[in-house]
Amino acid sequence: MLLWLWRWLWLCVCCCPARGLRIHEYLYFQVLSPGDIRYIFTATPAKDFGGVFNTRYDQIHLVPADPPEACGELSNGVFIQDQIALVERGGCSFLSKTRVIQEHGGRAVIIADNAYDNDSFYVEMIQDSSRRTADIPALFLLGRDGYMIRRSLEQHGLPWAVISIPVNVTSIPTYEMMQPPWTFW
Ligand SMILES: *[C@@H]1O[C@H](CO)[C@@H](O)[C@H](O)[C@H]1NC(C)=O
Ligand SMILES: *[C@@H]1O[C@H](CO)[C@@H](O)[C@H](O)[C@H]1NC(C)=O
Repeated sequence: MLLWLWRWLWLCVCCCPARGLRIHEYLYFQVLSPGDIRYIFTATPAKDFGGVFNTRYDQIHLVPADPPEACGELSNGVFIQDQIALVERGGCSFLSKTRVIQEHGGRAVIIADNAYDNDSFYVEMIQDSSRRTADIPALFLLGRDGYMIRRSLEQHGLPWAVISIPVNVTSIPTYEMMQPPWTFW
């Protein structure tokens, strides 16, 4: 509890002033498999593009895009149809990535920071200057979390994780214990 409170305060002190004191809206998902990352992860929806999550998926694949930045053609695009893609920040805009995943039939995209060791900074994802739009939801994930998910899948030789999204954490009494252990410091 104390740890959690500390973390929350830390987030506010360190991150909010830079963004006009805006406290982020969070969206949670749980990895169901592989078992070693069976945690509840915290993501933040894009600020001004993409759709809202109005469907709850009890089980859906989270497929790491190949190449990870998903700025153009994907070699594993067929796996993304009707599933959710995990992509990496960098190379092109957040919106471009979202559109690439949408074009492959993805239901949503989770974009992880490319700063692998950064476990505290939620980037606010905003429109680029292109005036294009995207219909599927786009979520931002901490670099550390994205890295740990990818690494686990690589270690197991798995093409995707199975997740549940969104998760209502207020209905889970043990929620705090289900966050990734590397979240705390
Ligand atoms: C995380 O990223 C933010 C923004 O780039 C930076 O201010 C902060 O120092 C980084 N933290 C770590 C632990 O790298
Ligand atoms: C989340 O769970 C709480 C507690 O069970 C419940 O009161 C609330 O309505 C739920 N929220 C949603 C969006 O389902």
